[in-house]
Amino acid sequence: MLGPLEMAHHLLAEVIVPGDLVVDATMGQGYDTVFLARLKAEVIAFDVQRLALDMTADRLEQAQVSAQLILDGHENVDQYVNQPIKAAIFNLGYLPKSDKQVITQAETTLDALAKLLELLVKGGRIALMIYYGHAGGLEERDAVLTFVSGLPQSVFQVMRYGGINQVNQPPFLVMIEKRL
Ligand SMILES: C[S@@+](CC[C@H](N)C(=O)[O-])C[C@H]1O[C@@H](n2cnc3c(N)ncnc32)[C@H](O)[C@@H]1O
Repeated sequence: MLGPLEMAHHLLAEVIVPGDLVVDATMGQGYDTVFLARLKAEVIAFDVQRLALDMTADRLEQAQVSAQLILDGHENVDQYVNQPIKAAIFNLGYLPKSDKQVITQAETTLDALAKLLELLVKGGRIALMIYYGHAGGLEERDAVLTFVSGLPQSVFQVMRYGGINQVNQPPFLVMIEKRL
């Protein structure tokens, strides 16, 4: 059975074709950036930490694929992307093995999500991996769930996927598709 992140990748790969413009909103260690680049998509990836860009650049080089890496918050996505996008992914929380004080925040996450939903083509998908075990995580989780629950059903299909018998705070996936 697929875990939530594997499911996110599976559902994104279903719609992405070579040449599509896609956004990794939270680059981190670059796993999602490399995943998207391997689909031969044109990838624009954001992070607020230089370390994330360095790690992602190394990972891209090892995989022999490329992406545009931007050292800025995803809430400024509209300053860099003004064309329709096919997909985006968020991995909320902090960069593993790094400064746990630098976390995604509800306000900027929702700002970025709203902007990306505007840019999303019909049939396009946005994945949000919700980690909420860290300080501030619950607030962000609830803000995202409130926001996506209010998206009009006529325009967006919103699904949730995650384990329900796991200990601690298991991450889960929210997947949004813009209807055809
Ligand atoms: C859970 S990690 C992402 C993991 C990543 N997707 C991977 O494959 O390794 C969350 C990342 O979001 C970044 N971040 C925090 N606030 C951000 C913002 N406003 N815009 C973009 N990235 C942000 C953090 O620096 C951190 O690297």
